[in-house]
Amino acid sequence: MQILAFNGSPRAKGNTSTIISAVLEGAKAKGAQTVEVKLHDIELKGCMGCLKCRENPGKCSQKDGLSQYLEAVKTCAGIIIGCPIYMYHVTGQMKILVDRFYSLYISKETIGEYESAVPAGKSYALVTSQGNPDPESYSRPIRWLAGMTGSGLGFEEKGRIIHTNSHIHPAKEMENILKKAYEIGQKMV
Ligand SMILES: Cc1cc2nc3c(=O)[nH]c(=O)nc-3n(C[C@H](O)[C@H](O)[C@H](O)COP(=O)(O)O)c2cc1C
Repeated sequence: MQILAFNGSPRAKGNTSTIISAVLEGAKAKGAQTVEVKLHDIELKGCMGCLKCRENPGKCSQKDGLSQYLEAVKTCAGIIIGCPIYMYHVTGQMKILVDRFYSLYISKETIGEYESAVPAGKSYALVTSQGNPDPESYSRPIRWLAGMTGSGLGFEEKGRIIHTNSHIHPAKEMENILKKAYEIGQKMV
């Protein structure tokens, strides 16, 4: 049973990475095998807009370091999406992942309707980190992120962490957040 984390932060020891690690520790404690994909550290190419995924549902024709993990999304037990807020939205690395997830949406006959290439019943967790102290300040992009990468594909959300005020309270010092993250990881398995 594999839990796959996609990390949109370029900072290997940053807040997102710290919280994702705690979620993965919880999943490991319940017997999961865990993989973390640091989007900044792999060869990552944008969607080509070739629409080959409309002809071959669930298959992305772009070939790069992400390809194997897009396949793994369909076979794993659950995914974690983690990302800092950059300029009121997700990082560029995360936006590329979201665009490439388009290949997991299968177009139905009716324009604008989709079904998921991801088998039902998989678990999902979301982690975001921001400097702004108000947890509601980026509710729109966060709702968008959870919709595109989670509920829209049929994942069942097991929990989310919106880490705020990161300059004053870095995640590594936030025991309550790390405990919650660990528990979410346990619930994912
Ligand atoms: C280029 C850039 C843009 C940022 N934009 C925002 C922003 O719009 N709102 C905010 O609250 N924090 C913003 N931040 C702060 C980060 O979201 C914050 O430091 C976060 O904790 C970083 O996460 P990480 O340690 O996982 O990389 C920005 C940081 C950078 C480097």
